[in-house]
Amino acid sequence: MPHPTYTNSRDALKIAVLGAGGGIGQSLSLLLKTELHTTCVAADARVHIAMYDVNRDAVAGAATDLSHINTAVYVTWHAPEAGSGPDPLAACLRGAQLVVIPAGVPRKPGMTRDDLFAINASIVKTLSQGIAAHCDLSRTFVLLISNPVNSLVPVLVETLVVAGGHQRVTPQTVARRVFGLTQLDAVRASAFLHEALGLLPGQSVRVPVVGGHSGHTIVPLFSQAVVGTDKLQERVRSLGPDVLSQLVNRVQFGGDEVVKAKNGAGSATLSMAYAAAQVTRGFAELLLGVREELQDTLYVNVGAFAFGEQVTQLTQGLPYVSLPLAISRDGLQAVDTQWAQKLAPEERKLWAVCIQELQTAVPQHQEQQS
Ligand code: NAD
Ligand code: LMR
Repeated sequence: MPHPTYTNSRDALKIAVLGAGGGIGQSLSLLLKTELHTTCVAADARVHIAMYDVNRDAVAGAATDLSHINTAVYVTWHAPEAGSGPDPLAACLRGAQLVVIPAGVPRKPGMTRDDLFAINASIVKTLSQGIAAHCDLSRTFVLLISNPVNSLVPVLVETLVVAGGHQRVTPQTVARRVFGLTQLDAVRASAFLHEALGLLPGQSVRVPVVGGHSGHTIVPLFSQAVVGTDKLQERVRSLGPDVLSQLVNRVQFGGDEVVKAKNGAGSATLSMAYAAAQVTRGFAELLLGVREELQDTLYVNVGAFAFGEQVTQLTQGLPYVSLPLAISRDGLQAVDTQWAQKLAPEERKLWAVCIQELQTAVPQHQEQQS
Protein backbone atom coordinates (compact mmCIF):
# COMPACT_ATOMS: atom_id res chain seq x y z
CA MET A 1 0.00 0.00 0.00
CA PRO A 2 1.48 3.38 -0.91
CA HIS A 3 2.07 5.85 1.90
CA PRO A 4 2.97 9.16 0.25
CA THR A 5 4.34 11.96 2.37
CA TYR A 6 3.11 14.51 -0.19
CA THR A 7 0.02 14.04 -2.31
CA ASN A 8 -0.63 17.35 -4.04
CA SER A 9 1.62 18.51 -6.89
CA ARG A 10 2.68 16.40 -9.88
CA ASP A 11 5.99 14.52 -9.89
CA ALA A 12 8.65 15.92 -12.20
CA LEU A 13 10.33 12.52 -12.00
CA LYS A 14 9.21 9.20 -10.57
CA ILE A 15 11.89 6.56 -10.02
CA ALA A 16 10.66 3.03 -9.31
CA VAL A 17 13.02 0.74 -7.40
CA LEU A 18 11.93 -2.91 -7.75
CA GLY A 19 13.41 -5.12 -5.02
CA ALA A 20 13.74 -2.05 -2.82
CA GLY A 21 13.51 -4.02 0.45
CA GLY A 22 16.75 -5.92 -0.21
CA GLY A 23 20.38 -5.21 0.59
CA ILE A 24 21.03 -3.17 -2.55
CA GLY A 25 17.49 -1.78 -2.79
CA GLN A 26 17.49 -0.25 0.71
CA SER A 27 20.96 1.28 0.43
CA LEU A 28 20.28 2.56 -3.09
CA SER A 29 17.02 4.17 -1.95
CA LEU A 30 18.88 5.87 0.91
CA LEU A 31 21.49 7.24 -1.50
CA LEU A 32 18.80 8.48 -3.91
CA LYS A 33 16.81 10.04 -1.05
CA THR A 34 19.87 11.98 0.09
CA GLU A 35 21.94 12.55 -3.06
CA LEU A 36 19.05 13.66 -5.28
CA HIS A 37 18.14 16.41 -2.81
CA THR A 38 20.47 18.93 -4.48
CA THR A 39 19.25 17.82 -7.92
CA CYS A 40 15.63 18.43 -6.83
CA VAL A 41 16.47 21.85 -5.48
CA ALA A 42 18.60 22.82 -8.51
CA ALA A 43 15.92 21.70 -10.96
CA ASP A 44 13.09 23.00 -8.74
CA ALA A 45 11.43 19.66 -9.32
CA ARG A 46 9.62 17.06 -7.25
CA VAL A 47 11.32 13.66 -7.33
CA HIS A 48 9.42 10.60 -6.09
CA ILE A 49 11.04 7.26 -5.26
CA ALA A 50 8.48 4.45 -5.42
CA MET A 51 9.82 1.38 -3.61
CA TYR A 52 8.41 -2.07 -4.46
CA ASP A 53 9.27 -5.47 -2.99
CA VAL A 54 7.49 -8.78 -2.43
CA ASN A 55 8.82 -8.62 1.14
CA ARG A 56 6.23 -6.26 2.63
CA ASP A 57 7.88 -5.69 6.01
CA ALA A 58 11.31 -4.98 4.50
CA VAL A 59 10.03 -2.38 2.04
CA ALA A 60 7.47 -0.80 4.39
CA GLY A 61 10.11 -0.52 7.11
CA ALA A 62 12.77 0.93 4.84
CA ALA A 63 10.45 3.45 3.18
CA THR A 64 8.95 4.64 6.47
CA ASP A 65 12.44 5.00 7.92
CA LEU A 66 13.60 6.96 4.83
CA SER A 67 10.54 9.22 4.94
CA HIS A 68 11.86 10.69 8.21
CA ILE A 69 14.92 12.13 6.41
CA ASN A 70 14.35 15.81 5.64
CA THR A 71 15.25 15.99 1.97
CA ALA A 72 13.14 17.17 -0.97
CA VAL A 73 12.91 13.66 -2.42
CA TYR A 74 9.82 11.78 -1.24
CA VAL A 75 9.26 8.09 -0.90
CA THR A 76 6.31 5.67 -1.18
CA TRP A 77 6.22 1.91 -0.67
CA HIS A 78 4.28 -0.77 -2.49
CA ALA A 79 4.02 -4.47 -1.68
CA PRO A 80 1.55 -7.31 -2.00
CA GLU A 81 -0.21 -7.56 1.37
CA ALA A 82 -3.57 -8.57 2.71
CA GLY A 83 -6.08 -5.83 2.06
CA SER A 84 -3.87 -3.86 -0.33
CA GLY A 85 -5.09 -2.75 -3.75
CA PRO A 86 -5.18 -5.33 -6.51
CA ASP A 87 -1.83 -4.50 -8.03
CA PRO A 88 0.85 -2.77 -5.95
CA LEU A 89 3.38 -3.27 -8.77
CA ALA A 90 1.11 -1.23 -11.06
CA ALA A 91 0.83 1.53 -8.45
CA CYS A 92 4.61 1.61 -8.12
CA LEU A 93 5.28 1.69 -11.86
CA ARG A 94 2.52 3.96 -13.15
CA GLY A 95 4.09 7.23 -14.30
CA ALA A 96 7.68 6.12 -13.65
CA GLN A 97 10.21 7.30 -16.22
CA LEU A 98 13.12 5.51 -14.59
CA VAL A 99 12.97 1.93 -13.25
CA VAL A 100 15.88 0.37 -11.37
CA ILE A 101 15.78 -3.39 -10.70
CA PRO A 102 17.85 -4.90 -7.88
CA ALA A 103 15.20 -7.64 -7.29
CA GLY A 104 16.58 -11.14 -7.21
CA VAL A 105 18.54 -13.75 -5.34
CA PRO A 106 22.22 -13.09 -4.50
CA ARG A 107 25.04 -15.67 -4.58
CA LYS A 108 26.31 -17.83 -1.73
CA PRO A 109 29.90 -19.15 -1.54
CA GLY A 110 30.54 -21.83 -4.16
CA MET A 111 27.95 -20.44 -6.60
CA THR A 112 28.55 -18.61 -9.87
CA ARG A 113 26.33 -15.78 -11.07
CA ASP A 114 25.10 -18.13 -13.79
CA ASP A 115 23.67 -20.43 -11.08
CA LEU A 116 21.17 -17.62 -10.37
CA PHE A 117 19.90 -17.49 -13.94
CA ALA A 118 16.74 -19.62 -13.68
CA ILE A 119 15.35 -18.03 -10.51
CA ASN A 120 16.29 -14.46 -11.37
CA ALA A 121 15.10 -14.76 -14.99
CA SER A 122 11.67 -15.66 -13.68
CA ILE A 123 11.67 -12.62 -11.32
CA VAL A 124 12.88 -10.30 -14.10
CA LYS A 125 10.21 -11.63 -16.50
CA THR A 126 7.44 -10.94 -13.99
CA LEU A 127 8.71 -7.43 -13.37
CA SER A 128 9.22 -6.65 -17.05
CA GLN A 129 5.65 -7.72 -17.79
CA GLY A 130 4.60 -5.15 -15.18
CA ILE A 131 6.80 -2.49 -16.79
CA ALA A 132 5.36 -3.26 -20.24
CA ALA A 133 1.84 -3.03 -18.86
CA HIS A 134 2.19 0.16 -16.82
CA CYS A 135 5.07 2.27 -18.22
CA ASP A 136 5.39 4.06 -21.54
CA LEU A 137 8.19 2.09 -23.21
CA SER A 138 9.08 4.97 -25.51
CA ARG A 139 9.79 7.22 -22.50
CA THR A 140 10.97 4.97 -19.68
CA PHE A 141 14.57 3.99 -18.93
CA VAL A 142 15.13 0.60 -17.26
CA LEU A 143 18.35 -0.22 -15.39
CA LEU A 144 18.99 -3.84 -14.40
CA ILE A 145 21.21 -4.84 -11.47
CA SER A 146 20.08 -8.46 -10.89
CA ASN A 147 22.53 -11.23 -11.81
CA PRO A 148 23.63 -12.67 -14.11
CA VAL A 149 23.50 -9.27 -15.86
CA ASN A 150 25.08 -10.68 -19.04
CA SER A 151 22.13 -13.01 -19.65
CA LEU A 152 19.30 -11.18 -17.89
CA VAL A 153 19.47 -7.97 -19.93
CA PRO A 154 18.53 -10.01 -23.05
CA VAL A 155 15.64 -11.60 -21.10
CA LEU A 156 14.49 -8.14 -19.98
CA VAL A 157 14.66 -6.62 -23.47
CA GLU A 158 12.94 -9.59 -25.12
CA THR A 159 10.15 -9.72 -22.53
CA LEU A 160 9.53 -5.97 -22.81
CA VAL A 161 9.34 -6.21 -26.60
CA VAL A 162 6.83 -9.08 -26.50
CA ALA A 163 4.77 -7.94 -23.51
CA GLY A 164 4.82 -4.33 -24.74
CA GLY A 165 3.55 -5.27 -28.22
CA HIS A 166 0.31 -3.38 -27.59
CA GLN A 167 2.31 -0.13 -27.29
CA ARG A 168 3.44 -0.51 -30.92
CA VAL A 169 7.02 0.49 -30.16
CA THR A 170 9.83 -1.00 -32.22
CA PRO A 171 12.33 -3.41 -30.62
CA GLN A 172 14.98 -0.71 -31.23
CA THR A 173 12.98 1.83 -29.24
CA VAL A 174 12.93 -0.59 -26.32
CA ALA A 175 16.60 -1.60 -26.66
CA ARG A 176 17.65 2.07 -26.68
CA ARG A 177 16.35 2.49 -23.12
CA VAL A 178 17.29 -0.74 -21.32
CA PHE A 179 20.72 -1.11 -19.70
CA GLY A 180 22.56 -3.54 -17.43
CA LEU A 181 24.67 -2.04 -14.65
CA THR A 182 28.38 -2.89 -14.81
CA GLN A 183 29.51 0.25 -12.97
CA LEU A 184 30.58 -1.67 -9.86
CA ASP A 185 33.52 -3.08 -11.83
CA ALA A 186 34.72 0.44 -12.66
CA VAL A 187 34.26 1.49 -9.03
CA ARG A 188 36.36 -1.50 -7.90
CA ALA A 189 39.05 -0.96 -10.55
CA SER A 190 39.35 2.68 -9.50
CA ALA A 191 39.55 1.81 -5.77
CA PHE A 192 42.16 -0.93 -6.30
CA LEU A 193 44.34 1.21 -8.59
CA HIS A 194 44.17 4.16 -6.21
CA GLU A 195 45.46 1.88 -3.46
CA ALA A 196 48.17 0.26 -5.63
CA LEU A 197 49.57 3.63 -6.78
CA GLY A 198 49.40 5.13 -3.27
CA LEU A 199 47.57 8.20 -4.58
CA LEU A 200 46.42 11.05 -2.36
CA PRO A 201 42.82 10.96 -1.02
CA GLY A 202 41.77 13.87 -3.26
CA GLN A 203 43.09 12.22 -6.42
CA SER A 204 40.02 10.57 -7.79
CA VAL A 205 40.99 7.86 -10.28
CA ARG A 206 38.77 6.66 -13.12
CA VAL A 207 39.44 3.33 -14.81
CA PRO A 208 37.31 2.40 -17.82
CA VAL A 209 35.95 -1.17 -17.72
CA VAL A 210 34.24 -2.79 -20.72
CA GLY A 211 32.84 -6.22 -21.67
CA GLY A 212 30.35 -7.83 -19.31
CA HIS A 213 29.76 -8.41 -15.61
CA SER A 214 31.25 -11.74 -14.62
CA GLY A 215 34.77 -13.15 -14.32
CA HIS A 216 36.72 -12.98 -17.58
CA THR A 217 34.05 -10.92 -19.34
CA ILE A 218 35.11 -8.00 -17.10
CA VAL A 219 37.88 -6.12 -18.94
CA PRO A 220 39.50 -3.33 -16.89
CA LEU A 221 41.55 -0.91 -19.02
CA PHE A 222 44.16 0.21 -16.50
CA SER A 223 46.34 1.65 -19.28
CA GLN A 224 43.58 4.25 -19.86
CA ALA A 225 43.17 5.28 -16.22
CA VAL A 226 42.99 9.01 -15.50
CA VAL A 227 43.02 11.38 -12.55
CA GLY A 228 40.97 14.35 -13.73
CA THR A 229 42.43 14.99 -17.20
CA ASP A 230 45.86 13.53 -16.35
CA LYS A 231 46.67 10.18 -17.91
CA LEU A 232 48.27 7.61 -15.60
CA GLN A 233 49.74 5.38 -18.31
CA GLU A 234 53.38 5.67 -17.18
CA ARG A 235 52.61 5.17 -13.52
CA VAL A 236 50.40 2.19 -14.29
CA ARG A 237 53.15 0.64 -16.46
CA SER A 238 55.67 1.17 -13.64
CA LEU A 239 53.66 -1.25 -11.48
CA GLY A 240 54.98 -4.09 -13.66
CA PRO A 241 53.11 -6.93 -15.40
CA ASP A 242 52.67 -9.14 -12.31
CA VAL A 243 51.05 -6.45 -10.17
CA LEU A 244 48.88 -5.38 -13.13
CA SER A 245 47.69 -8.88 -13.77
CA GLN A 246 46.85 -9.27 -10.05
CA LEU A 247 44.85 -6.04 -10.23
CA VAL A 248 42.93 -7.30 -13.28
CA ASN A 249 42.20 -10.58 -11.52
CA ARG A 250 41.01 -8.77 -8.39
CA VAL A 251 38.54 -6.69 -10.42
CA GLN A 252 37.32 -9.72 -12.40
CA PHE A 253 36.73 -11.70 -9.20
CA GLY A 254 36.02 -8.83 -6.77
CA GLY A 255 32.47 -10.12 -6.34
CA ASP A 256 33.81 -13.44 -4.98
CA GLU A 257 35.90 -11.54 -2.41
CA VAL A 258 32.71 -10.05 -0.93
CA VAL A 259 30.68 -13.28 -1.21
CA LYS A 260 33.44 -15.10 0.71
CA ALA A 261 33.67 -12.41 3.40
CA LYS A 262 29.86 -12.45 3.88
CA ASN A 263 30.08 -16.21 4.33
CA GLY A 264 26.59 -17.13 3.15
CA ALA A 265 24.89 -13.80 3.94
CA GLY A 266 24.81 -12.64 0.30
CA SER A 267 26.98 -10.60 -2.04
CA ALA A 268 28.04 -6.97 -2.47
CA THR A 269 25.27 -4.55 -1.51
CA LEU A 270 26.85 -1.30 -0.29
CA SER A 271 29.41 -0.87 -3.07
CA MET A 272 26.75 -1.87 -5.61
CA ALA A 273 24.30 0.65 -4.19
CA TYR A 274 27.02 3.32 -4.44
CA ALA A 275 27.70 2.38 -8.08
CA ALA A 276 23.99 2.19 -8.94
CA ALA A 277 23.32 5.57 -7.32
CA GLN A 278 25.98 7.17 -9.55
CA VAL A 279 24.32 5.82 -12.69
CA THR A 280 20.74 6.47 -11.52
CA ARG A 281 21.61 10.04 -10.65
CA GLY A 282 22.97 10.57 -14.18
CA PHE A 283 19.70 9.33 -15.68
CA ALA A 284 17.68 11.44 -13.23
CA GLU A 285 19.62 14.55 -14.29
CA LEU A 286 19.02 13.68 -17.94
CA LEU A 287 15.28 13.27 -17.37
CA LEU A 288 15.06 16.46 -15.33
CA GLY A 289 16.88 18.43 -18.04
CA VAL A 290 19.85 19.20 -15.77
CA ARG A 291 22.06 17.69 -18.49
CA GLU A 292 21.59 17.07 -22.22
CA GLU A 293 23.69 13.94 -22.55
CA LEU A 294 24.92 11.14 -20.35
CA GLN A 295 28.18 9.29 -20.97
CA ASP A 296 28.30 5.97 -19.18
CA THR A 297 29.56 2.44 -19.67
CA LEU A 298 26.56 0.11 -19.60
CA TYR A 299 25.54 -3.35 -20.85
CA VAL A 300 23.25 -2.89 -23.83
CA ASN A 301 21.85 -4.43 -26.99
CA VAL A 302 24.28 -2.89 -29.50
CA GLY A 303 23.16 -5.56 -31.99
CA ALA A 304 19.79 -3.86 -32.41
CA PHE A 305 21.41 -0.88 -34.18
CA ALA A 306 23.50 -0.17 -37.23
CA PHE A 307 26.35 1.53 -35.40
CA GLY A 308 28.72 0.77 -38.26
CA GLU A 309 31.52 -1.56 -39.20
CA GLN A 310 33.81 -0.39 -36.38
CA VAL A 311 31.39 -1.53 -33.65
CA THR A 312 30.54 -4.79 -35.43
CA GLN A 313 34.22 -5.63 -35.85
CA LEU A 314 34.99 -4.80 -32.26
CA THR A 315 32.12 -6.84 -30.83
CA GLN A 316 32.36 -9.52 -33.54
CA GLY A 317 28.64 -9.15 -34.00
CA LEU A 318 27.82 -9.86 -30.34
CA PRO A 319 24.33 -8.53 -29.64
CA TYR A 320 24.91 -7.53 -25.99
CA VAL A 321 28.04 -6.01 -24.45
CA SER A 322 29.06 -3.28 -22.02
CA LEU A 323 30.62 -0.29 -23.80
CA PRO A 324 31.01 3.46 -23.23
CA LEU A 325 27.80 5.01 -24.53
CA ALA A 326 26.31 8.41 -25.23
CA ILE A 327 22.68 8.60 -24.10
CA SER A 328 20.14 11.38 -24.57
CA ARG A 329 16.56 11.63 -23.29
CA ASP A 330 15.62 9.72 -26.45
CA GLY A 331 17.82 6.81 -25.41
CA LEU A 332 21.07 5.35 -26.68
CA GLN A 333 22.63 7.55 -29.36
CA ALA A 334 26.21 6.42 -29.94
CA VAL A 335 28.87 3.92 -28.95
CA ASP A 336 32.40 5.12 -28.21
CA THR A 337 35.08 2.85 -29.70
CA GLN A 338 38.09 5.13 -29.24
CA TRP A 339 39.32 3.08 -26.28
CA ALA A 340 39.78 0.07 -28.59
CA GLN A 341 42.46 1.87 -30.61
CA LYS A 342 44.52 2.48 -27.46
CA LEU A 343 44.54 -1.01 -25.92
CA ALA A 344 47.75 -2.35 -24.38
CA PRO A 345 48.75 -5.80 -25.75
CA GLU A 346 47.56 -7.60 -22.58
CA GLU A 347 44.23 -5.79 -22.73
CA ARG A 348 43.76 -6.95 -26.35
CA LYS A 349 44.04 -10.54 -25.09
CA LEU A 350 41.56 -9.87 -22.27
CA TRP A 351 39.08 -8.45 -24.78
CA ALA A 352 39.40 -11.54 -27.02
CA VAL A 353 38.68 -13.84 -24.03
CA CYS A 354 35.72 -11.70 -23.03
CA ILE A 355 34.16 -11.87 -26.51
CA GLN A 356 34.63 -15.63 -26.63
CA GLU A 357 33.00 -16.10 -23.23
CA LEU A 358 30.04 -13.83 -24.02
CA GLN A 359 29.57 -15.68 -27.32
CA THR A 360 29.12 -18.99 -25.51
CA ALA A 361 27.59 -18.25 -22.07
CA VAL A 362 24.71 -15.96 -23.08
CA PRO A 363 23.30 -18.18 -25.90
CA GLN A 364 23.42 -21.17 -23.52
CA HIS A 365 21.02 -19.35 -21.23
CA GLN A 366 18.82 -18.36 -24.13
CA GLU A 367 18.53 -22.04 -25.09
CA GLN A 368 17.67 -22.84 -21.46
CA GLN A 369 14.81 -20.32 -21.74
CA SER A 370 13.26 -21.70 -24.91
P1 NAD B 1 18.68 -9.28 -1.45
O1 NAD B 1 18.22 -10.69 -1.29
O2 NAD B 1 19.22 -8.57 -0.27
O3 NAD B 1 17.50 -8.40 -2.06
C1 NAD B 1 16.74 -8.81 -3.13
C2 NAD B 1 15.33 -8.30 -2.93
O4 NAD B 1 14.55 -8.68 -4.05
C3 NAD B 1 14.63 -8.91 -1.69
O5 NAD B 1 14.16 -7.89 -0.84
C4 NAD B 1 13.49 -9.72 -2.27
O6 NAD B 1 12.34 -9.75 -1.47
C5 NAD B 1 13.25 -8.96 -3.58
N1 NAD B 1 12.51 -9.72 -4.57
C6 NAD B 1 12.59 -11.02 -4.89
N2 NAD B 1 11.69 -11.33 -5.84
C7 NAD B 1 11.03 -10.19 -6.13
C8 NAD B 1 9.99 -9.85 -7.03
N3 NAD B 1 9.42 -10.75 -7.84
N4 NAD B 1 9.56 -8.58 -7.05
C9 NAD B 1 10.10 -7.66 -6.24
N5 NAD B 1 11.09 -7.92 -5.36
C10 NAD B 1 11.54 -9.16 -5.32
O7 NAD B 1 19.76 -9.31 -2.64
P2 NAD B 1 20.81 -8.13 -3.03
O8 NAD B 1 22.07 -8.37 -2.31
O9 NAD B 1 20.13 -6.82 -2.91
O10 NAD B 1 21.08 -8.50 -4.57
C11 NAD B 1 20.08 -8.40 -5.53
C12 NAD B 1 20.58 -8.85 -6.90
O11 NAD B 1 21.61 -7.97 -7.38
C13 NAD B 1 21.22 -10.24 -6.90
O12 NAD B 1 20.79 -10.95 -8.04
C14 NAD B 1 22.71 -9.96 -6.99
O13 NAD B 1 23.43 -11.01 -7.58
C15 NAD B 1 22.70 -8.73 -7.88
N6 NAD B 1 23.93 -7.91 -7.83
C16 NAD B 1 24.33 -7.34 -9.01
C17 NAD B 1 25.45 -6.54 -9.03
C18 NAD B 1 25.89 -5.89 -10.31
O14 NAD B 1 27.03 -5.41 -10.37
N7 NAD B 1 25.07 -5.79 -11.33
C19 NAD B 1 26.17 -6.31 -7.84
C20 NAD B 1 25.72 -6.88 -6.67
C21 NAD B 1 24.59 -7.70 -6.67
C1 LMR C 1 29.43 -8.38 -7.63
O1 LMR C 1 30.21 -8.24 -8.57
O2 LMR C 1 29.76 -8.10 -6.46
C2 LMR C 1 28.03 -8.83 -7.90
O3 LMR C 1 27.87 -9.24 -9.22
C3 LMR C 1 27.54 -9.85 -6.93
C4 LMR C 1 28.21 -11.18 -7.07
O4 LMR C 1 27.50 -12.20 -7.14
O5 LMR C 1 29.44 -11.25 -7.06
